[in-house]
Amino acid sequence: MAWISRIGWAMACVLPLAACERDMEDQAKFEPYEAAPLFPNGQAARMPVEGTVPHDDPPAEPVQPQVTLAVLERGRERFDIYCAPCHGRVGDGAGMIVQRGFPQPPSYHDQSLRQAPDRFYFDVIGQGFGRMFSYANRVAPEDRWAIVAYIRALQLSQHATLREVREAGLESRLGAAR
Ligand code: HEC
Repeated sequence: MAWISRIGWAMACVLPLAACERDMEDQAKFEPYEAAPLFPNGQAARMPVEGTVPHDDPPAEPVQPQVTLAVLERGRERFDIYCAPCHGRVGDGAGMIVQRGFPQPPSYHDQSLRQAPDRFYFDVIGQGFGRMFSYANRVAPEDRWAIVAYIRALQLSQHATLREVREAGLESRLGAAR
């Protein structure tokens, strides 16, 4: 009859706990929204301390950085590693993996992609797009912005007018580029 004594033991353990629960229920404490002269605003309910972040808030994303030469260089490096294999070094969509049979992405120099906002590129890198998978776990948000800046530079490189080149004082480089 071992089970009887097992029940006996269980009761012996649980009963004192039940008594304990009543004590805790009756102890001196403030109810929610109760007045409490102890605090300067007279309320028992306290406000979260300044800077408290709700634990279910999404983590803050870095804001788009100013475009500097360092950002562009970082963007070029990351682009050549993660994007050029499909999108090509100049962004025309003819990268090596495409030449070996992967579906061809559209050129960044197409009208619609030139007009797409920076945020669109940032989101495609983080979320993927159609047959292109996400790079969220390989390209950190700061690097996504750097890549976006570099893609903008690539787009400009294929569409700058002679006047813009002159105004930038780069005319002497034209011969060298040819
Ligand atoms: C493995 C090949 C591959 C790599 C690497 C790759 N992409 Fe793509 N990307 C594609 C393909 C294919 C599409 C078109 C997907 C579709 O339409 O289904 C695409 C589409 C896109 C588009 C949207 C184009 C549109 O039609 O609006 C953007 C923007 C883009 N890629 C940016 C990037 C960037 C930035 C990187 C580097 C972080 C990158 N991709 C890396 C294959 C790739």
